[in-house]
Amino acid sequence: MPVRRDGDKLQVIAVANFKGGSAKTTTALYLAQFLALKGHRVLAIDLDPQASLSAMFGYQPELEIGEGDTLYGALRYDSLRRPMAEVIRPTYFDGISLVPGNLELMEFEHNTPQAMMEGKLRGGDIFFRRVDACIQQVSDQFDVVVIDCPPQLGYLTMGALNAATSLLVTIHPQMVDVASMSQFLLMTSDLMSVIEEAGGALDYDFIRYVITRHDPNDVPETQIVALLRNLFGDDVLRATAWKSTAIANAGLTKQSLYELEKGLVGRGAYDRALESVDAVNSEILDLIRKVWRR
Ligand SMILES: Nc1ncnc2c1ncn2[C@@H]1O[C@H](COP(=O)(O)OP(=O)(O)OP(=O)(O)O)[C@@H](O)[C@H]1O
Ligand SMILES: [Mg+2]
Repeated sequence: MPVRRDGDKLQVIAVANFKGGSAKTTTALYLAQFLALKGHRVLAIDLDPQASLSAMFGYQPELEIGEGDTLYGALRYDSLRRPMAEVIRPTYFDGISLVPGNLELMEFEHNTPQAMMEGKLRGGDIFFRRVDACIQQVSDQFDVVVIDCPPQLGYLTMGALNAATSLLVTIHPQMVDVASMSQFLLMTSDLMSVIEEAGGALDYDFIRYVITRHDPNDVPETQIVALLRNLFGDDVLRATAWKSTAIANAGLTKQSLYELEKGLVGRGAYDRALESVDAVNSEILDLIRKVWRR
């Protein structure tokens, strides 16, 4: 099985969209688990102050994650900054380590403008390079980093977009989502030019739209999916993650489809949902392997 070899660069995959509820966290979780099941060493980073990814891994954000235990601990501008290795913790899922999130991540949004004004942020210290700098500290310990972004374009998201080698934009195919996705693209292209002007390079190995919570029997949705494929062609993954109560319920019980015993869900529903998620993840893994084979 081709895995990351010496010389293959660490893949950093950001899952992003400004649209709340477009299944970013679910997509990030399933991708991390799929890659780990395939034998890769995965670091999942929860960059969302809402901390839903951490909760999925069984961590109660405000109780079990102390001060400085999120990525903010490794990003902060003051003398309390910690090495990245100190904010990484194991998870019960073999092959996945986690940098958890909680509300303290908001501090980075608050402190960055101030730090910029104080002129603290030159060169490698500039805010949008800091997430990357954290990840680079541990780059030989992992094969793939999956970043679950918050549903806003703030300094954390910018840092993630800068650190990312590849980008997954999740889309729930309903009209409103498509509208906010065009807004996302406009804002990201503005943001990318800002970052590029400041001397940060943004060249992704791949950018793909992932259609999520897809109901193939819903006619308007089908039309939107067709429209997206017309607009973006091969930039839209062929496979879509199907809308499934098995996935929604697994979210509530904090157990993903990869962890559930088959008997626990209606077998047919379980299989169909799992197949669609596997198909999405296989396409992403193929893209990663292509990068590694270059
Ligand atoms: N394929 C699916 N089928 C059914 N429900 C799903 C599916 N994917 C995600 N969901 C549900 O949709 C809701 C939103 O998903 P999720 O939290 O992953 O979105 P998000 O984009 O991370 O949201 P936020 O913007 O708040 O971070 C959750 O309740 C989740 O369980
Ligand atoms: Mg989320």
